[in-house]
Amino acid sequence: MPEQLRQESGFRTSLLEQNDGPGTNLSDNRTMGEIIAARFSRRSLLKGSLAVTAIAATVGPIALGSAEKARAGTGSAFSFDEVEAGIDEKHHVSTGYDADVLLRWGDPLFPDSPEFDPGKQSAAAQSKQFGYNNDYVGYIPIDGSASHGLLVVNHEYTNPHLMFEGIVKVVEKDGKKKLELAPLSKDQVDVEMAAHGGTIVEIKKESGKWRVVRDGKLNRRVTAMTEIDLTGPAAGSDRLKTAADPSGTKVIGTVNNCAGGVTPWGTYVMAEENIHGYFSGELPEGHREAANYKRMGIPEAAYEWAAYYDRFDLAKEPNEPNRFGWIVEVDVQDPTSAPKKRTALGRFKHEGAESIVAKDGRVVFYLGDDERFDYVYKFVTAGKFNPDDRAANLNLLDDGTLYVAKFAEDGTMEWLPVVFGEGPLTAENDFKSHADVLIETRRAADLLGATKMDRPEDMQPNPVNGKVYLNLTNNTKRKDDQVDAANPRAKNAFGHIIEIAENDGDFAATKGKWEVLLRCGDPSVAEVGASFSTETTKNGWFGMPDNCAVDSAGRLWVATDGNNAKVTGRADGLWAVDTEGEARATSRLFFRVPVGAEMCGPLFAPDDQTAFVAVQHPGDGGEEWEPFARPSYYEDLSTRWPDFKPDMPVRPSVVAITKQGGGKIAV
Ligand code: FEO
Ligand code: CA
Ligand code: CA
Ligand code: CA
Repeated sequence: MPEQLRQESGFRTSLLEQNDGPGTNLSDNRTMGEIIAARFSRRSLLKGSLAVTAIAATVGPIALGSAEKARAGTGSAFSFDEVEAGIDEKHHVSTGYDADVLLRWGDPLFPDSPEFDPGKQSAAAQSKQFGYNNDYVGYIPIDGSASHGLLVVNHEYTNPHLMFEGIVKVVEKDGKKKLELAPLSKDQVDVEMAAHGGTIVEIKKESGKWRVVRDGKLNRRVTAMTEIDLTGPAAGSDRLKTAADPSGTKVIGTVNNCAGGVTPWGTYVMAEENIHGYFSGELPEGHREAANYKRMGIPEAAYEWAAYYDRFDLAKEPNEPNRFGWIVEVDVQDPTSAPKKRTALGRFKHEGAESIVAKDGRVVFYLGDDERFDYVYKFVTAGKFNPDDRAANLNLLDDGTLYVAKFAEDGTMEWLPVVFGEGPLTAENDFKSHADVLIETRRAADLLGATKMDRPEDMQPNPVNGKVYLNLTNNTKRKDDQVDAANPRAKNAFGHIIEIAENDGDFAATKGKWEVLLRCGDPSVAEVGASFSTETTKNGWFGMPDNCAVDSAGRLWVATDGNNAKVTGRADGLWAVDTEGEARATSRLFFRVPVGAEMCGPLFAPDDQTAFVAVQHPGDGGEEWEPFARPSYYEDLSTRWPDFKPDMPVRPSVVAITKQGGGKIAV
């Protein structure tokens, strides 16, 4: 959700694509900004700002003319005609490519699914249709095929002002138009709950075009009403027990599934991110979870679910929030199986869960905690991946070691074990078991002295070059006194990307090296301090890196969240970012989203011939976009993408990008 709208509209938000969350980390650990400031000596900082000045002086708007052919003598790994940065009601893809809408909010997924009828939407219909606000996209091949597989898609949150007719009132406040929402009915809340979670759906490419296989035997919806097991070290903890579940091992539903991953054994993992907004009410006086919930920003009451479901009311069910904020694993081969919340991977605002097999066969999951001043984690399984026995891998996520990252000024880093009994993680600090450590992962990491980061989003291990890419989306709350005077990024409005090299190329290593691949933002504005290469055109720079992917050639693709008419003059999109050789830190715009949207996915089919991207919350906003210049809502939308029919609302959708005539993307 656009920051502006959240902060100023005064209407109860629908949660919370958290562009700027509560920032609940009050520990004394050093911020990443402090570390970066200290690491770059005054001398190299001066060189850096001179370099930026040089860019500003020599690369004016004319020299940077749009639609330049990429790979112009730079050794870039990418070749495509760059899209012009900008913002309008449509999507745009590089010339010579098709961007076909594959799955829209409300599209039927089963033979008996009703067709989408926005005026008559019901929970029963929604639970058999594609959900709202698609985020992570994964592909699990069927029989090893790159053109026939299961698409797995997270549905992060809902936007009632864009989904439901007749609930919005426009009011004037301080000379500005604002939206006010009427309370939602139980039926509408039930639609919201059914629009959350994930979709597993069979897709097939025929004659170069993807289609949904509506009678696919493995098609499934997971929602906020799906029965889910709690497994691993925290399962059964007293702190996870509720009236409805005295065992502490069964939860109803998963929410705010942001990024995620597909495991080497072909299951689908969903990260529960901004869980705080679903809870309302007050804890009983003196309740033991008070500090725990404060650290997680719970409750925020952005949703009205507690009005109809007691489990979202802290006064009635004080332990329920401990049952959210986990990584959820879904066995896509068995649509009747209960998904599992894998407590061994810790509880925080989980952003993603991309994984890779380490040298010795253990599996490493990279995990971000998306909050200002929160941390970067990884989980290393105790057991080894067995490529010949799928069943033997199915509980690998219940046993292993969770680590949190500490970045040092000299470019090294350490992964600190978040393990009960180690260091300060003892009864002295009110941890009585490993379950306690996992339930309060953030407090454990505070005590370990982990490095406070600028909102860790997706992390992507790259099997081709052995590196790991970490997107840090922004942190406008970093204060001046937290950075060096020569560092122009006191308020990190545009984010940066860190590249990690684990020691000896071993992803399971407990030490590594790191450097900043990119400081984002407009490089022609020296004060921004961006570090894109001089080959990057005026279309190629971006801010707010969020999700990312590497294709099978090991090339990095970055999706953004937060570019808009006011901040950057451009829509979010998908950028191709060189990481190797002279072209390193060169970025080019490949695809851009319609007004109000952010770019999620992205995901490349195994043959690199399709890029799947998820267009999330299109039409959410329009005040800052001059041709519209007012708030956008169901009856008055800034875009009706992708259908552009007067009787159809705007619809979050997954888009399949293919090269006209076939072939690999961007070669
Ligand atoms: Fe759901 Fe941190 O993006
Ligand atoms: Ca994200
Ligand atoms: Ca990713
Ligand atoms: Ca996002």
